Amino acid sequence: MEMQVQPQDAPCGAIIRGVDLGRPLTDAQIAGIRRHWLKHQVVAFVDQDLSVEDIERFALTVGPFGSDPFFEAIPGHPHVAQVRREADEKTPIFAEVWHSDWSFMAQPPAATVLYGNVIPPVGGDTRFTNLYAAWETLPADLRAQVEGRRAIHSAGRAYARDGAYGEKDKGRSMKIRYSDDALHAQYAHPIGRVHPETGRTALFVSMGYTVGIEGMSTEEATPILHALFAHQNRKEFEYRHRWSQGTLLMWDNRCVNHAASGGYDGHARLLHRITVADRTFQ
Ligand code: SIN
Repeated sequence: MEMQVQPQDAPCGAIIRGVDLGRPLTDAQIAGIRRHWLKHQVVAFVDQDLSVEDIERFALTVGPFGSDPFFEAIPGHPHVAQVRREADEKTPIFAEVWHSDWSFMAQPPAATVLYGNVIPPVGGDTRFTNLYAAWETLPADLRAQVEGRRAIHSAGRAYARDGAYGEKDKGRSMKIRYSDDALHAQYAHPIGRVHPETGRTALFVSMGYTVGIEGMSTEEATPILHALFAHQNRKEFEYRHRWSQGTLLMWDNRCVNHAASGGYDGHARLLHRITVADRTFQ
């Protein structure tokens, strides 16, 4: 079966057909998928029928399992978490803020793999923003202020005891494990971060996790960060993924930010998620 790749009419994203992820892939298929993923940044494999084991096997063709410091894994599968929301759930939508997964780690993950098991008939899209495009179009004065600088990424606002998913976040069906470790889960990465596989530079900051700029006071850094966020979240850089049941989506955290969206109150949503480590650190 030939792999067919349909780029989306958007600044990133492609649909891949003609490959059955329920079977072991050939070396040529693995290499082809990586090439398309690096080019399009977000790839969607539609009409799959996958078990948890199939998703794990696919993820391992991309790289080693990453760690998920604040998720509880599903029984028997220590690297698989569920992104879930019940039909009657009233908690804020998980991960509705722009972010790159676990960017507060010293070695942030390369990929995230998300498989749609239960997809609501309306809403629940995942949005992506192309961080290469954001860097390449950064206004010269803003670029001059951040070139060569590193931004501080922190898990605290989200996963500490008093964070968004901390002890006041009651009634959530998704198994998030907040912890005061989140206060120390912090790391600085270049604001213009060179992708280790493509060599392109991405604007590697996000509203979700970036809290400061190294060597700058909060007063100095805050307006710069707000300007960077406003720039990278412009609609012209966005791809909005509409889910269907049986789609496996994989994105490259090194060059896209993503954000969940709501709009499906009264409907359940369930996806299985695996984080893939960046093997260029190994
Ligand atoms: C995530 O950020 O992992 C969740 C994305 C989504 O639920 O659409």
